[in-house]
Amino acid sequence: MRLKKRVAIVTGAATGIGQAIAVALASEGAAVVVDYVGKSQLADETLQKIAAAGVQGISVEADVSDPAQVQKLVEQAVGKFGKLDILVNNAGIEFKQPFLDFPFDLWQKIIAVDLTGPWLCAQAAARQMVKQGNGGRIINISSVHEDLPMPTNAPYCAAKGGLRMLTRTIALELAPHKITVNNIGPGAIYTPIDKDVEADPNMEKQLMAEIPLGRWGRPEEVAELAVFLASDAAAYITGSTHFIDGGMLRMAGSL
Ligand code: BGC
Repeated sequence: MRLKKRVAIVTGAATGIGQAIAVALASEGAAVVVDYVGKSQLADETLQKIAAAGVQGISVEADVSDPAQVQKLVEQAVGKFGKLDILVNNAGIEFKQPFLDFPFDLWQKIIAVDLTGPWLCAQAAARQMVKQGNGGRIINISSVHEDLPMPTNAPYCAAKGGLRMLTRTIALELAPHKITVNNIGPGAIYTPIDKDVEADPNMEKQLMAEIPLGRWGRPEEVAELAVFLASDAAAYITGSTHFIDGGMLRMAGSL
């Protein structure tokens, strides 16, 4: 049990990578606050898995792009469990369309959830952690696309690129408080965010050709890395992105 008596918030924990992380933290002993928007049945499924791990969990509906809702999310975590040790900024959205046609309101929405969200949650969580005085862990789920451009996905890439520098900067500001800040940069992980690719054999084949290990990653594999970064063993790691991408970022085709 690497996270006994810890309290964690995982945003976007109703599905995909967020759900796997919530369950993995719980199975290491942490109490988990499951943040979600609009998918209460799936959030309940996450809660059931947390209960099966023998620890406590609650779900809170909070839109990470809304400062008041984020404040309430942290207050509810502390109200229920007395403190906050770990924040996992996982909630994210993606919408692919050529740049020339990309609607402005969608750009704003993606930046709001994928970049402003982590900012707001990290600030609210860090203020609480500083008050407690025992350090803490902030883990942001970024993407290979914090480095790698992806045509038709400009707002998502811009948000993840921003998250890269947000992490590096606040890691320095929070280091004196023993709060570490790290990004996980997943590649192609088999989750609902990629349902367009999963449903199209040609797109899937094209994607697999970009991955040296030749397969999708599993949410549980990403969750293992999150558990490690949340644990005491990772106390000296801060301000970095840790990629888990089957070698995708190193791909040089047949050269
Ligand atoms: C995106 C996926 C994409 C993957 C690899 C992820 O960040 O959400 O749509 O398939 O990166 O390119």
